[in-house]
Amino acid sequence: METFDPKRFVETTIAETRKSIGNDKALVAVSGGVDSTTCAVLIHRAIGENLACVILDDAFMRQGEPEHVAGTLSKSPFNVPTKIVNVRERFLKAMKGLSDAEEKRKMFRETFYQVLGETAKKEECKVLVQGTIRADILETVGGVKTQHNVLEQMGINPVERFGFRVVEPLLPLLKTQVRMVARYFGLPLEFSERQPFPGPGLSVRVVGEIRLDKLETLRKATAIVENVLKEQKPGQYFAVIMDNEEISQQPRVLRVQEASARLLNVPSRNVHVKIFKDKATGIESGKRRYGEVVGIKVETLEGKLHRTPLPNIVSLQARIITENPAVSRVFYAIKDLAEEKPYIIAIRSVETKDFLTAAVSDIPWQTLEKITEEVTKTCPNVSTVYFDVTPKPPATIEME
Ligand code: XMP
Repeated sequence: METFDPKRFVETTIAETRKSIGNDKALVAVSGGVDSTTCAVLIHRAIGENLACVILDDAFMRQGEPEHVAGTLSKSPFNVPTKIVNVRERFLKAMKGLSDAEEKRKMFRETFYQVLGETAKKEECKVLVQGTIRADILETVGGVKTQHNVLEQMGINPVERFGFRVVEPLLPLLKTQVRMVARYFGLPLEFSERQPFPGPGLSVRVVGEIRLDKLETLRKATAIVENVLKEQKPGQYFAVIMDNEEISQQPRVLRVQEASARLLNVPSRNVHVKIFKDKATGIESGKRRYGEVVGIKVETLEGKLHRTPLPNIVSLQARIITENPAVSRVFYAIKDLAEEKPYIIAIRSVETKDFLTAAVSDIPWQTLEKITEEVTKTCPNVSTVYFDVTPKPPATIEME
């Protein structure tokens, strides 16, 4: 295979996009992720002042993210003037009451493009530039999930629906090649090497219904998980939040309890199993599979939580999912407060090369416990902090 040359890619793409955009004004929306940020810098080099760059503050970004991204892009050496558009209320209202993952993704996409359509009109832009890469399209068309930025491939005509035509200069690239282009532009390491952050942001990490207190708790937990785990440099790592509500599934609970006791060599009365009310996304034979999330808490004879090397728990997860096809994820409790509170947090950390498959990171217990201490201290409405021990497949990296 020919080696990828970022300089040549940039030169050719600048010439091509200049031609395809012509004298029209174009809008680009950046999220702070490497794809959209690189895309904005590239198009600004191509069309300069004809580019309007915005960050839609949709309520689902991380702590301080809109300000930080806008600040970096607007300053030297990039000098891409970037405006923050506050559309928090609009998104929270649109997503209110929805709990199914695909419904939430579709509503996010719909609201996202409506807002972009309105912004494009205000800024007099006839073109929308997107940092879509090949993998986004493959997963949406393949039926795993609805990526927020895939339109035409799903039969949606953007000119008719939203009033702009779409230009996607990064489409031929793999994620690793986007990072090479970002480094070539001299984007700070925190952007070029940044772990992926999905377009719908924290909305796909609030499992089930999105409520403001649940979202704000996740935002705090996300900052803690990212801050502690960044030293370990996992492939991708974040927090998720779920309602602390179970369904009653006695036969399945018993089966999971027995398998856990056998494989971890503990008495079954020390194993407590929950099947949560809300489901999470997984994949099976390349297709989306919405399944149950099982939380396992194992106590020692002294009443502490049982520690065992993570590979043992990952093997247990495989056994549970094989024996219970309705399950798509397994969480293992790292810290539990005796009190029942409305939410649980799970730490997700995976190692991946291509994001199509991923292994659970082998994080030291001490590090996991450091996170769980901080999360329970900072988030008073959280009962239990788990570690998600499910690889991709059968789970996806994100929860929804
Ligand atoms: P999954 O959850 O499919 O994630 O295993 C694979 C990679 O894609 C990211 N991801 C998204 N990125 N819009 C994006 O821009 C999305 O809707 C989206 N969903 C997942 C995910 O974070 C992971 O890196």
